[in-house]
Amino acid sequence: MRKSFPAEDLARDGRFRRARTEDRFEDPRNEFLPPGRRAGKLTPDRSDAAHAARQLMHGIFVGEIQALEGAGRTVWDFDDDEAPFALKLDMARQCWDEARHTEMSVKLGEWMGTEVGEFAETAFLYQAACNPDPVLRLTGVNRALEGLAIDVFNTMREFGEACSDPVLSFCEDWMLADEVTHVKMGSDWLRRLTENDPERRERALEFQRVVDKLFSFRGFRGEADDSPIQLARTFRRMAGFGDTEIDTIAADAEAGSDPEGWRAPVG
Ligand SMILES: [Fe+2]
Ligand SMILES: [Fe+2]
Repeated sequence: MRKSFPAEDLARDGRFRRARTEDRFEDPRNEFLPPGRRAGKLTPDRSDAAHAARQLMHGIFVGEIQALEGAGRTVWDFDDDEAPFALKLDMARQCWDEARHTEMSVKLGEWMGTEVGEFAETAFLYQAACNPDPVLRLTGVNRALEGLAIDVFNTMREFGEACSDPVLSFCEDWMLADEVTHVKMGSDWLRRLTENDPERRERALEFQRVVDKLFSFRGFRGEADDSPIQLARTFRRMAGFGDTEIDTIAADAEAGSDPEGWRAPVG
């Protein structure tokens, strides 16, 4: 089996629609509100709430598949000198979690009235998992993108509560607990593997910052009152993020915010 498998060759059946990340984000069909009107926090009283929630759930579903594929590749792509065996055990555990999340997300999508392929899939999560340095890979995926998953799941959990939908809120709560664990793994391994190599740690944190900035989606994820996905500070702290680090993500999201509104980020 070859190492470092390219995103284009990932196995998908005929239901999936692959799109380039930039095309997906710029697609005007993502906008269900008049131009220039910011959607605001995902709440049931938004006129496009049902559509926005289905789209987000489809994005979560394809993200779970790619998280599974990425963690699986990390188990395989590196020898024990590059990535300690204990790190691979953590990744194997993560595969188990992501497989369960994939199944839960596809069922939640059906529950909410969508199906596989209603929205396009971009490969951005898996692409971040192709970094040849295991530390950068883990930092980009397990801290930046799984950190985003914490924010997304917390948003969805609160949306489920606001809709009085116990199926959605319970499922999101359980997945959120796993994602906190995955981010914590990223935080712990980053600290361990770069203990004596501050330069490598700096490179990894810089890679994380680039990924974080990109996936704040021009303010779609942030701390502004009208950001649809809110930064989940408490859960991020539990996952090994310091307050300064969270402040930086919030400030970068604010600086990159687009007053003309967002494009839906995932799916
Ligand atoms: Fe997951
Ligand atoms: Fe995860």
